[in-house]
Amino acid sequence: MKIAIDGPASSGKSSIAKLLSKKLNFEYIDTGALYRAITYIIYKKHINIQDEKLITDIIKSSKFEFIDNKLYLNNKSIDVEIRKNIISQRVSEVAAQPFIRKLLNNVIRNISNHLKNIIIDGRDIGTVVLPNADLKIYLDASPKIRAYRRYLELIDKNESVILEKLEEEIIERDFIDTNREVDPLKKADDAIIIVTDDLNIRQVVDKIYDLLNNDL
Ligand code: DC
Repeated sequence: MKIAIDGPASSGKSSIAKLLSKKLNFEYIDTGALYRAITYIIYKKHINIQDEKLITDIIKSSKFEFIDNKLYLNNKSIDVEIRKNIISQRVSEVAAQPFIRKLLNNVIRNISNHLKNIIIDGRDIGTVVLPNADLKIYLDASPKIRAYRRYLELIDKNESVILEKLEEEIIERDFIDTNREVDPLKKADDAIIIVTDDLNIRQVVDKIYDLLNNDL
C-alpha cells in the first residue's frame, strides 16, 4: 500500500507521516529532506545553482538512505544540518530547478520501488511521484499557525528566530512552491484535504488511520 501526503511548509506532514508510519509499520520517505540535502550541499560547497553538470554529478554519485526516518548522505546523518532555518530559506529556489526535480524523482523512485508499504510526503507526491497512490492526503493550515509551529520547533533547537519573520518566509515559500513551472505544490483531484489548524498531530494521525480502515 502506498500513501501520499502533500501540503505546504510546516503543515505537519513529516510529524504526522512519522507517527502514522510507526502505527502502520510502514516505511516513510521524507522527500523534502532530499531537497534540503541538495540545498545543503549547494550552499556548503558554494555551487552555482545553474551548474547543472556539477549538481547532476553530485546527485548521481551520492548515496541517499533513510534510516530510522533520518536522512543519511553517503553514510553520514545530515538531519540536523538540513533542518536549520538557513536551509529552509533557500530550499524553495533549489526545488524550483526542473533538472534537480527530475534527478530527485529518480532517487525517490529508486528508494520506493523496493518497498511494499510506504508513506511518502512532499509537494508533488499525489500529483507526480505516486499518481496511483492508494490514499492521498493534502494537509493544510493557515500561515499563522504554521509559522507558530515552526517557531516552537526552532526555539526548541536554540535557533534565534522572529515569529513575524517566519510567517513572512512561510508565505514566500508557499508562493514559490505553488507557482513554480515544474510540478508545483497542488492538491491532487482525488486527495482528501485535512485542515490542521485546530487539530493536534495525534488527531490528524487518527483521522488518516480511520480513513484507511473505513474507506479502503
Ligand atoms: O517539507 P519541507 O519543508 O522539508 O520541504 C522543503 C522544500 O522542498 C519545500 O520548499 C518544497 C520542496 N519540496 C518539493 O518541491 N517537492 C517535494 N516533493 C518535497 C519538497
